[in-house]
This record gives sequence, structure tokens and C-alpha cells, in this order.
Amino acid sequence: MSAHHVVVIGVGSIGERHTRCFQATGRATVSIVESKATLAAEISKRYGVTAHADLDAALAQKPTVAVIATPAPLHIPQAIKLVAAGVNVLIEKPLSTTIEGVETLRQLAAEKPVTIGVAYVLRSYPAFAAMRQAIQSGRFGTPRQLTMVTGQHFPTYRPAYREIYYANRAAGGGAIQDALTHMVNLGEWLVGPVTRLVTDADHQVLPGVEVEDTVHLVTRQGSVMGTYALNQFQAPNETYITVNCDPGTVRCEMHTNRLLTMTKPGEPWQEQAFGQAERDTAFINQANDFLNAVEGKSPVLCTLEEGIQTLKVNLAALESAEHRRWVEIK
Ligand SMILES: NC(=O)c1ccc[n+]([C@@H]2O[C@H](COP(=O)([O-])OP(=O)(O)OC[C@H]3O[C@@H](n4cnc5c(N)ncnc54)[C@H](O)[C@@H]3O)[C@@H](O)[C@H]2O)c1
Repeated sequence: MSAHHVVVIGVGSIGERHTRCFQATGRATVSIVESKATLAAEISKRYGVTAHADLDAALAQKPTVAVIATPAPLHIPQAIKLVAAGVNVLIEKPLSTTIEGVETLRQLAAEKPVTIGVAYVLRSYPAFAAMRQAIQSGRFGTPRQLTMVTGQHFPTYRPAYREIYYANRAAGGGAIQDALTHMVNLGEWLVGPVTRLVTDADHQVLPGVEVEDTVHLVTRQGSVMGTYALNQFQAPNETYITVNCDPGTVRCEMHTNRLLTMTKPGEPWQEQAFGQAERDTAFINQANDFLNAVEGKSPVLCTLEEGIQTLKVNLAALESAEHRRWVEIK
């Protein structure tokens, strides 16, 4: 008997991955809810999992954990229903596309003895955890500047982008809510929450959609000045994250999975390599981390409050891009 009954809600691209990765922990029996009947049958057969007719039918089976992997506008309503029923929930990013329902979920979370996590998976990459630890150790001095430069060719990595939520901002689409949000959440984990920002964003290249595919975000994160440059059309799949402290520097190259550090001017880079991992690895880590949190063995990696904070940044970035001005995060 597995200790956990995990129901994955929505088994499109990421929900299928969660199905597979929670199974890979060896700690859970997995079942699914998927509104497209043919997809439900396909995933049920591929992974040998039960497909429930809907969320109510799943709840009748008393799951202990739910992974919400539907499009973003459904995350909060589904989380409210699940938390009210006493189910622990891991909610895909972004938490939502508006602030509506957030207060209700917050109140329920305070009343119910459940674990709630937001699935910002970059926190489950060992290289980023090591980067955070290096910054927080104080060995490199006080963090002063954060720079993220990231891009990938979306048509190669998500060929269906025109047909899914990505094409529509109200459904959680566009580069800010879909991709930049991962980087912002990571940046907040590394150096603290965004307190104000200004954004430039536009649709530059991706055929068949009108949402922004290129974003430049400038932030203040307490005493840290941040910049995030992201596009979804470049050929190289590369991500560089640098935190310049006074006097040292901590850098992570996601595409080479290396942590690079320098303690003072003139010294060589010190390199820590994490090896090339399968894409599922971080999601299996995330599944194990969440089950550990449910079991009370470790804190949840990205809390509801941290997910709400990053949601506010998403919304502020959209507002800033539209009105071409600085926005405070409240
Ligand atoms: N963490 C990551 O790296 C990552 C990657 C991709 C997507 N995501 C996020 O995950 C969410 C889903 O993205 P996706 O790419 O898998 O989208 P998708 O469109 O491929 O899958 C969503 C699935 O949810 C199903 N669905 C919709 N309403 C439902 C309902 N009421 N009940 C049950 N199923 C329902 C749809 O039929 C679809 O199959 C989004 O919020 C997205 O931002 C995260």
C-alpha cells in the first residue's frame, strides 16, 4: 500500500509529467481527472492509473494529495474546493491570472490542517538550491545586483503553443505569466521579494500568437537591483543567473548545470558541476519534496504566500508593460 493517494487534475503536458513523476517516487498511488475523455483514457492506459469522471468523483475516493495542473484561471477555484475537503494541494504556476479568490484560499489554508505548495519547479534543481545556500552563507558578501538572461525557442520546446493557454493572457498565456514567472519566483527565492518594477514587453517573433514573447523587467528586491531579460524565440536554450555581491559573485548556468563562484577580483572562477539531468529529475525531486512536506519532514519549498507574491509580480509586470511606468508591489 502506498502512503499517499495523489490525484492529478488536468493531464495535458505538465499533468502527464506529474503523473509519471509522482509514480516514480514509489510513495504514491496516482489517479487522474481530465475533462478531455480521449486524453483521460490515453493517460489512464499509458500509466495504469484510474481516471475519475470529474473532481467530485475523485474527492469521493478520499485522495490525500492533489496536483492542480489545469490552466491557471482554474487553479484557485479548484484549490478552494480541495482544501475545503482537507486535501493537500500542489498548485501549478502561475497561482492564477487575477487576485480573485486568493483571500478565500488564504483563509481556508489558515483553518485547515493541509499543506499547500506552488509548483515553481526551479526550486527543486540542486544547482539553484546550492546557489541560494552560497548567497545566504554570506561568504560572498551582501547581494547587490541580480541579472537573469534567458531564452529558448518555444516552437521547438512547446510546438502546440498556438493551441494551448499560452496564446491568451486571460488563460495564463504570454511570456510574463508563462515563463518569466519561473525566473521571478527563483529570483525572489535567491534574494528576496520584488518590491517595485518596470517592464517592457512585446510580441516580436512567434508566429500565430499576439501575446508578448520578449520581456525586459527591471526590479528592486529590497537592497538588490534586478534585471530579467527573456525571449521565447532565440536558437540557444540558455539561462544565466548572476548575483553580484559585495565583493563576490555567484552565478548559475542552467544549461550547463554549473554553479560558478568568485570571492574577490582577480581570483579564478570556482566551479561546481551538477551533471546533466533528465528533465523529469527536477519534477521527481519536486514530488518527493512535496510528499516530505505533507509528512511534516521538511518545509514546503514554495509556500502559498510566496506564490501569491509572485502572482502580484506577474500582474504588476503586465500593468507596467501596458502603462509604461514603475509599479509598486503591495
Ligand atoms: N512547471 C512547469 O514547468 C510547467 C510547464 C508547463 C505548464 N505549466 C503550467 O501548468 C498548467 C497547465 O499547463 P499545460 O501546459 O499542461 O496545459 P495543457 O493545456 O497541455 O493541459 C491542461 C489540461 O487540463 C485539462 N482541463 C481543463 N479543465 C479541466 C477541468 N476542469 N478538469 C480536469 N481537467 C481539465 C485540459 O483538458 C488539458 O488537458 C498551466 O498553469 C501552466 O502554466 C507548468
